[in-house]
Amino acid sequence: MPLVSVKELLAKAEEGKYAVGAFNVNNMEIVQAILAAAEAEKAPVIMQASQGAIKYAGIEYIYALANLAASKSTVPMALHLDHGTSFDQCMQCIRYGFTSVMIDGSKLPLEENIALTNKVIEVARATGVSVEAELGKIGGTEDDIHVDEKDAFFTDPEEARYFVEKTGVDALAIAIGTAHGQYKGVPQLDFPRLEKIVGMVKAPIVLHGSSGVPDEAIQEAIRLGVRKVNIDTNIREAFTGACRQVLENNAKEIDPRKVLAPAREAATQIIREKIRVFGSSGRA
Ligand code: G3H
Ligand code: 13P
Ligand code: ZN
Repeated sequence: MPLVSVKELLAKAEEGKYAVGAFNVNNMEIVQAILAAAEAEKAPVIMQASQGAIKYAGIEYIYALANLAASKSTVPMALHLDHGTSFDQCMQCIRYGFTSVMIDGSKLPLEENIALTNKVIEVARATGVSVEAELGKIGGTEDDIHVDEKDAFFTDPEEARYFVEKTGVDALAIAIGTAHGQYKGVPQLDFPRLEKIVGMVKAPIVLHGSSGVPDEAIQEAIRLGVRKVNIDTNIREAFTGACRQVLENNAKEIDPRKVLAPAREAATQIIREKIRVFGSSGRA
């Protein structure tokens, strides 16, 4: 079927009280892994490409691979720009056929974040593309956030309410204690803050930096209202780990297919596991 919008997938997730997995893509094998996992689990999925992925593979390849995967699939698949930081990047993705874009103005002062988000929404609305924005600082696992700094970094529920009221954004990424990359310890999520945000905000909530967060914590976040869960690092670990294993077993291997086929299979397995944790298995 054709690529669908993220807005449509998240509306169904809200009805069914589950979350849709958003998996980062960089190459053909990961796109194939997402398709295989989604088909095996009969689950809706989001393929998302960061600006780094677009720079690496080229937007034509990313779009063509994702569009082909969707056209072959019997389950709904969306293509989303992950952490777009400029209006121009969002416009480029919309022109190429992405069905959703994230405009990440989280480093900007609140009113500037609102203005930039609204500028993207104005064009996106006219083309049926959905828009995700970010409020609060998610950051990387290297940015150790102390408990007394929480209020400065984590999403403020009242600000989130105001932001969504002023933008009408289709999805909102929030900071409640997750971070991008590999965690050093076990991440502690601020569930009371999440509950407040969900109660005050009329937009589906997105959890970034979800690799390495214990399954039970992810499921509690979904129970409280998270509807899109982003996973990149766990796919990287599975994919590269499998490549490493093949080369460790046979340092003389020169056939890329012998290295990449097990990597694609490992990515498929981890994506299937995540889909089951998110409750989106059987929801296509
Ligand atoms: O949120 C960040 C994603 O993991 C993408 O990372 O910018 O290195 O592609 P990247
Ligand atoms: P992880 O790499 O920590 O899974 O985060 C992914 C993400 O949030 C992409 O936007
Ligand atoms: Zn992210």
